[in-house]
Parts: sequence; structure tokens; C-alpha cells
Amino acid sequence: MPFESTFLQACARQPVPHIPVWYMRQAGRYQPEYRAIREKYTLVEICRQPELCYEVTKLPVTQLGVDAAILFSDIMIPIGAMGLDFEIKESVGPLIANPVRSKADIDRLQVFDPEEKLPHVLRSIELLKNDLTVPLIGFTGAPFTLASYMIEGRPSRNYIRTKQLMWSDKTLWKSLLDKLGAMIVRYAKAQVAAGAAAIQLFDSWVGNLSVADYREYILPTMKDIFSALKDTGVPLIYFGVQTGELLTSFAETGATVIGVDWRVPIRSARERIGYEFPVQGNLDPILLFAPWEALERRTREILDESMDKPGFIFNLGHGVTHNDPPVAVETLQRLTEFIHNYTSDKLRR
Ligand code: CP3
Repeated sequence: MPFESTFLQACARQPVPHIPVWYMRQAGRYQPEYRAIREKYTLVEICRQPELCYEVTKLPVTQLGVDAAILFSDIMIPIGAMGLDFEIKESVGPLIANPVRSKADIDRLQVFDPEEKLPHVLRSIELLKNDLTVPLIGFTGAPFTLASYMIEGRPSRNYIRTKQLMWSDKTLWKSLLDKLGAMIVRYAKAQVAAGAAAIQLFDSWVGNLSVADYREYILPTMKDIFSALKDTGVPLIYFGVQTGELLTSFAETGATVIGVDWRVPIRSARERIGYEFPVQGNLDPILLFAPWEALERRTREILDESMDKPGFIFNLGHGVTHNDPPVAVETLQRLTEFIHNYTSDKLRR
């Protein structure tokens, strides 16, 4: 790394001059500049053009002063490269025209070569790594979350078809998860080779499983994935929503940094996982719509509870939520500045 990075220092549990911060979904519709680009291009078009992807990825770094960039892409992009037709419908989410329902559907999925199918993603990463002054986080969806979109064909409340497949045919389920696992490993390795300094696995919806089901149907594949990614040497962040009860299992996966949602008190998360793990989190993203005093109070509490031991990265407990009217850019600017100032004072003492 050609520069000192508080984000990478925190991922390695080294001392930091201030607590690093970045925000899930820090690039998006709350930014007027993003909305202007989206008037001309779809999300997929932005992802396909490295110059546009570069611009959208970099914007929050210059605008907010965050300590890491996250590649602008979507967890659906590699699902398209596996052979499924998807669209992202405004205010609904991802829709898949040909969902996965049978063994034949699973057999047809391709564990693609990233250089062949998604070269533009790798070119975007190369552009960014040469220019950014903060590390670039690459990412992919994790198997359960990807499988749930593939099987349901749309966002889901109860994951009925997904769970039915999981419980009714364990061999078939495992074959789907392992295929996704193989894709994830190849895709994440290609991102690191192109210049990603860390990888985050988004398992947004896995918190819908019981601990028993997580351990039986998901954990083995997660262990294989993280073990295959270990020699990339980069921090491997694993995040999901409503995963309080799953955190101790998350700590067994081989992930090196654990993402925590806002429902879990951050100190309790750190105690449950063990202080050998750096953690990332966990402000309720809806607080970005609250009066500054409420936002500052909860932010301060999170920092006070979590920064006494090394290995803490400030983030939201889930992504910046889109609404009309949107979150104000100024709120995220002020929050970032507050975290930097408050924690550098505290760490100096
Ligand atoms: O700034 C960043 O965080 C990087 C970009 C990013 C996007 N999607 C861009 C995006 C990342 C990391 C994602 C991950 C993603 N995509 C997840 C995991 C994280 C999470 O939020 O739980 C999931 C579940 C998806 C699937 C997805 N894509 C959803 C649910 C939506 C929202 C649909 C809507 O209209 O609100 C998308 C679309 C999407 N992906 C947008 C952005 C900026 C917004 C819509 C747009 O500009 O068209």
C-alpha cells in the first residue's frame, strides 16, 4: 500500500490516529451528482463503463472524506455473468426473469472467468487503485443471499422457496451453494489481483435463518470460501443484517473482520465474537434522517463502547437508505468529521 491507511490498520488491529469510517451504500441516490449520472445511464451501464464506475466510486471519498472506497457495482452483476437475466427495478429491487428452481437450472449456471465475463469490473478497479488515496474495498454477495434472489426471482419476505429447497434436497442445495462459493472465490481473487485492498462479503439476508440452519446449511460453504481466500492476504469482511445470534458462528467462518448490524450493542458484539476480531458497524442507518443531536448521541455511544480496544471500523448497521427526501450529503459529511475529530482527541489522550 503506497499510503498509510487507518482502515487497513484497524483491520489489522493496529493503533490508529483516528477511527476509520466508511458507509455501506456510500455511493447512491442521496447524492445529486449520482442522480444526474443515473438520468443518463442505468446502474448496469455505469458498472460497464470503467470511467463512469471510477467517478461514482470516487465521489464519496472526495465528498465525505471517508477512509475507504467501495467499488461501485451490485451483488447482481456476477449473477448475470452466471447466466441469469436480471433487472434492478426502482423501489422494488432485483428481479430475475429465469429463476433457479431445478437441478437443470443449477447445472446451467456458469462459474465464469472474471477476465472474460466481467473485464470492465477489473478495469474499473485498476483505474481506481492507481488514483485513490484510500483503500478500495471489492465485494461480492455471499451464497445464501445470492441463492435467495436466484431462487425467489425477486426480493422476498419469508424466503419460502429458498428454505423449501434447502430443507427438501440437501445435496442439491449444497451443489448450488458450492457453485456460488466457487464463483465467489474466483471473482474475489480477480478483484484482489486487479487492486482491491479488502473484500467484503454481503450476506444481507442470512439473518433470516435460525442458528441451527445457518450452521448446517451455510457455515461449511462459508468456511471453504474464506479458507480459499486466505492467501490473498487482504482483510475479509463478512456482514449480514439481523445476525446478532449468528455472530459467534460468523467468527468460525474464517472471515477476518465481522460486520455488525445496529440491533446488537457493539460492546456485546465484540464480547461475543472475541476481541481478536476487528469489527465494523453499526449505526442505525435511519438515524441519518434524525436531528443531529440524536445522531451524534448514538454515534458517540458506539465509539465509546467500541474504541477502547484496537480493531474498530465505523460504519452503518446497513446501507444508506434511500428515501424521498433523501439523506442530506451534509449529514454524512458532518458525521464523518465528527467521528474523525472525536476519536483523534480521545486516542491522543
Ligand atoms: O456504495 C456502495 O455501497 C457500492 C455499491 C453497491 C450497490 N449495491 C449499488 C446499488 C453495493 C455494495 C451493493 C450491494 C447490494 N445490492 C446488496 C448488499 C448490501 C445491502 O444493501 O444489503 C444487495 C442486497 C443488493 C441488491 C440491490 N441492488 C437492492 C436491494 C437494490 C435497491 C433497489 C432500490 O431501488 O432501492 C439495488 C440497487 C442498487 N444497487 C442501487 C445502488 C446505488 C440503487 C438503485 C439505482 O441507482 O438504480
